[in-house]
Amino acid sequence: MRHFLTLKDLSTSELNQLIDRAIELKRMHKAGEVYEPLKNQVLAMIFDKSSTRTRVSFESGMVQFGGGAIFLSPNDTQLGRGEPVEDSARVISSMVDMVMIRTFDHNMVERFADYSSVPVINALTDDYHPCQLLADMQTYVEQRGSIEGKTVTWIGDGNNMCHSYINAADRLGFNLNIATPEGYEPRADIVAEADAQITLFNNPEDAVKNSDLIVTDVWASMGQEEEQKKREVAFADFQVTRALMAKANDDALFMHCLPAHRGEEVSAEVMDDSDSVVWQEAENRLHAQKALIEFLHTNS
Ligand code: CP
Ligand code: NVA
Repeated sequence: MRHFLTLKDLSTSELNQLIDRAIELKRMHKAGEVYEPLKNQVLAMIFDKSSTRTRVSFESGMVQFGGGAIFLSPNDTQLGRGEPVEDSARVISSMVDMVMIRTFDHNMVERFADYSSVPVINALTDDYHPCQLLADMQTYVEQRGSIEGKTVTWIGDGNNMCHSYINAADRLGFNLNIATPEGYEPRADIVAEADAQITLFNNPEDAVKNSDLIVTDVWASMGQEEEQKKREVAFADFQVTRALMAKANDDALFMHCLPAHRGEEVSAEVMDDSDSVVWQEAENRLHAQKALIEFLHTNS
C-alpha cells in the first residue's frame, strides 16, 4: 500500500516521473482529451482546515478522471464528535478508493494511514504540505527545466511549506537557503536528517544571493491566528519586495503557495511581476495531483 504523507514517500525517480506525467496530463486536459482511468472511483476528502485550491483541484481532478469526490468536514462527520481516527479510517477506507486529509497534527494522517485499506494523501498538516511541492516543482520545470543543482531561497516562517521544501531539496538535489527571524527556524530534526545542502540565515538579503527561485508563505499559518500581531512584528524585515528580488539571479522566479497577504510577506508588485509564477503554480495543483492520484492508483 502506497501512501503520500510526505515527499519522502516517493523516490527521486518516482518524483521526476510524476512531474513529467503532470506536464503530460496538463497537455492532455488542455487539448480536451477525455482520460478516465478512475471511472466509478471515489476520493474521500477530510478537511479539518479551510481550503480553496486543494479542495477545488482534488475534486475537479477526480471528476476529470471519471470518478468523484466526497467533502467531509468535522462539523458534520462523527470524526468531529470524537470517533477515533483508527475506527474512522477502517470504515471510510472500506467504502472509497482513496482518502485525502487536511488536518492539524501530522500524527493524525499517520494513524489514519496505518488503519486505511486504501492510499492516503496528506493535503497539509501543521508539519508538511507535500502536494504543494508537486505543483511548485512542476512549475519550475515548465519554466526553467530541471531544478537539480539550482539554489532555492525560502523567506519567512520555517513552517509546513518550508519543511516540504527541505524534503524536496533532498529528493531533487537543489540547494536550499532558509531565511527566518530568530525563533522561527524550521524544525531542527528535519534539517538535520536532510542530505541536501541547507543553509539557515536570519537575513533575507544574504539568503537570496545567487538564487534561482524565491519562495515565501504567510507569516501565521492556519491554527496560529492568535499569533498574527506578534508575528507581524517578528517578520517585518522578511517581506519579499522588488528590491529583494533584484538581489537574486536575473532569471529568478517567485512562488507563493497562496493565499497571499499583499503588504505582509510579499509586496503587491512582486505578486504581479513577470517573474512571479503564482497563478501557474496554483493551477498546477490540479495537474500534479492528478498525476499523484494516478500513481497511487497504479501502484497500490
Ligand atoms: N495552497 C493551498 O494549499 O491553498 P488552499 O489552502 O486554498 O487549499
Ligand atoms: N503555511 C500555510 C499554508 C497554506 C496553504 C498554512 O498552513 O496555513
